[in-house]
Amino acid sequence: MYILGISCYYHDASAALLKDGRIVAAAEEERFTRKKHDNSFPINAIKYCLESQNITIKDVAHIGFYEKPFVKFERVLSQHLEMFPLSLKTFLSSTPSWINEKLRVVGIIKKRLKYKGDVLFIEHHLAHAASAFLVSPFKRATIFTVDGVGEWTTTAYGIGEGTSIHLIKEIKFPNSIGLLYSTITAYLGFTVNNSEYKVMGLSPYGTMDKNKNPYYAKLKKVVDIKEDGSFRFDMSYFIYHYADRMPSKKLCKLLDGPVRKPESEITQRHKDIAAALQLITEEILTKMLNYVYKATKCKNLVMSGGVALNSVYNGKILRNTPFKKIWIQPNASDGGTSIGVCSYIYHALLGHKRNFLMRDAYLGPEFSKQEIKEFLDKNKITYSELRGEKELIKKTVKLIYEGNVVGWFQGRMEWGPRALGARSILADAGNPDMKEILNLKVKHREKFRPFAPVVCVEDALKYFECDKPIPEAADFMLMVYPIRKKYHKIIPAVTHVDGSGRLQTVRRWQNPLYYKIIKEFGKLSGIPILINTSFNIRGEPIVCSPNDAYKCMMGTGIDYLVMDKFLIKREENPQDMWDSEVYAKD
Ligand SMILES: [Fe+2]
Repeated sequence: MYILGISCYYHDASAALLKDGRIVAAAEEERFTRKKHDNSFPINAIKYCLESQNITIKDVAHIGFYEKPFVKFERVLSQHLEMFPLSLKTFLSSTPSWINEKLRVVGIIKKRLKYKGDVLFIEHHLAHAASAFLVSPFKRATIFTVDGVGEWTTTAYGIGEGTSIHLIKEIKFPNSIGLLYSTITAYLGFTVNNSEYKVMGLSPYGTMDKNKNPYYAKLKKVVDIKEDGSFRFDMSYFIYHYADRMPSKKLCKLLDGPVRKPESEITQRHKDIAAALQLITEEILTKMLNYVYKATKCKNLVMSGGVALNSVYNGKILRNTPFKKIWIQPNASDGGTSIGVCSYIYHALLGHKRNFLMRDAYLGPEFSKQEIKEFLDKNKITYSELRGEKELIKKTVKLIYEGNVVGWFQGRMEWGPRALGARSILADAGNPDMKEILNLKVKHREKFRPFAPVVCVEDALKYFECDKPIPEAADFMLMVYPIRKKYHKIIPAVTHVDGSGRLQTVRRWQNPLYYKIIKEFGKLSGIPILINTSFNIRGEPIVCSPNDAYKCMMGTGIDYLVMDKFLIKREENPQDMWDSEVYAKD
């Protein structure tokens, strides 16, 4: 039985395909259209899912959608009515997309896919919950979902057992940790639903002592936090409930200045505001999770929703709550709900037993050696072919060790926002100049942002102060941990200003070739850690096809591209037709 899950029309449209309980394919639309966070109907992602299994839409038994649009529209209507006439402008500008797309999803799905069956609508936080629990390693777990907003819900918790999910309590719009984070992201001059992680990366440059950070006390005026972690906003500080912007004039006054202009200087005040936001977010989440544990008494925790991508906080959960084990959906924001939708239909609605654990994130397209060779030959690209795995490993490791930046394109593309060794850029974490080289030549991104280390799981505890045993969530780069002090200067390129690192741990069976590259690099350099950063430039989605990868290398300072067994040197190919600067935007 095939079930197709769809998420679209908000941000990060995606599709996922389940076959007899197993997720066999999943991808985000942006990877195909090359439009970052593309929210349009994911026709390309759906096409990929079906083609990967050699099936057509006629083979699909059910299609599920990641929210209930009419319930969501009811919320939008009621918030606009409540705020009328202030809300009129936003209401009028958002109405066409509701009339033309969001409320006509069934018709669109049937027409565009020539699909004749029923479409099932799964509540948004239930879809998040299913994406976290039903593919997790746990038979029973506490479920915690937290995002900007679904239909009405912004935070929910409950219990998952076997194939059932029971959400017990929720917090509703407009009170939302996700929307608070996004409001301050907007205030700091970054793009909402995209750059929240930059604010998280900026926060350790600010004062993380709440008694010394002046903005901690100020931001506390905005949100009333109760002992159980529930909270209520003073909505006079926000305008997102009736406008297409987020901070109010009153919030700007509270934070001592106007909204920061993008690309303008980031001052200590901005850094302190980012730090205060992270402190308050952590305070709310810790209080809430401790309360949730008292209610569920189950020490396994699964999480999803955009806020579950706050890897800085995730690394602190097991230390600050009674939970003993944690699993997080690697695609925790809305893109991941398409997996939740098909799992929910198959297990919770149809009652089939669980037979799938999501132990890696390689669910996207792959390209055969033959396809890659044809691409290279057709485009008259100069390359060499490496003989066998041994030579491939030896050569790649040597290039990295000699200070080169290597584009790494192998196997199936990753699911979710992180590159995990299928579409990655690899470099030497021990090279003190590498952060600057990568920032200037490849990523064109803000200097304050850290790069991430990758390490084989059995070597991780030597270098990082991880939870023990290391949670599988670290395999998906979802946990930030302190780097042991004596290694800060040994791996400067991946040590953030506060001494932390957002590591990826790799288990051999997840990706044997990637694992061997890291191990071999350890033998050569003495440190089995590499920089792993996503294979894209700022403003672009992660590369998907050989063409995307080649284009990205030629437009940047990436020195080599290792694509399957083929080695392509940038210098040996004409470079003047590519210019990454035009793509480098937020
Ligand atoms: Fe969501």
